Amino acid sequence: MTETSDLFTLKRNFFVLAHRVNTDGNFNLNDLCGSAGRLDGIIRSINSSLFLSHGIRRDSAVHAIMMGPSDPPKVLSILGSSVRYLNPDERSTASLIKKALEIALPASNGSCIRSTPGIYVTRGGLDHVLDNVKGRSFLLLENADKGRKILETIAMDVGNINFFLSDDRDFEEEEIETIMLTSDGAISVSPKVLHTDHCITVIHSILDDIEN
Ligand SMILES: C[S@@+](CC[C@H](N)C(=O)[O-])C[C@H]1O[C@@H](n2cnc3c(N)ncnc32)[C@H](O)[C@@H]1O
Repeated sequence: MTETSDLFTLKRNFFVLAHRVNTDGNFNLNDLCGSAGRLDGIIRSINSSLFLSHGIRRDSAVHAIMMGPSDPPKVLSILGSSVRYLNPDERSTASLIKKALEIALPASNGSCIRSTPGIYVTRGGLDHVLDNVKGRSFLLLENADKGRKILETIAMDVGNINFFLSDDRDFEEEEIETIMLTSDGAISVSPKVLHTDHCITVIHSILDDIEN
């Protein structure tokens, strides 16, 4: 067993609210957009969070807060520091996720099991995540303050930093209010509405520039 907070210690953490993605592993690997509840989009966010051209971002982690049927809520965490067997193709990642979701997880919040190296599944939802994150947190929203400027002012002295994004659906108002209560604010990374995975790439680019 692992503590939830142990999963949130890497330098860059991306939390994606997966509103309707399957949570029991009972989906067809050939139907990620349909029976898996748009798992394809979550996997693209995993790829943007962790892959370099020829390597893995070992200082980054991605956490899908999964709320779809039939066993929510669960957090699927992939830690760049220790992940193995992760490849850029969507089907093989879906297979790793399916294996993680098929593990029988106790009902109590915080129960956490390692599925394969670097991949963990935790019982809990947004509130449980917010209770356990450390460091600075930002909500990614269209039409918020410019993220680059804000990150430039804080990123050099920050320990770990957390970003909350929604999937292909908008955040619920209640989710925004809940995240804003404990975060450092909302930021925008473009005047355009982007895909979730593209926002993650932009955030990495901003932080890479600041750090180098
Ligand atoms: C595809 S968008 C959500 C759906 C979108 N509102 C629509 O019109 O269909 C997915 C998520 O990416 C993030 N996002 C998209 N564009 C953004 C931007 N310009 N700045 C910051 N975050 C953005 C937000 O977290 C958003 O909820």
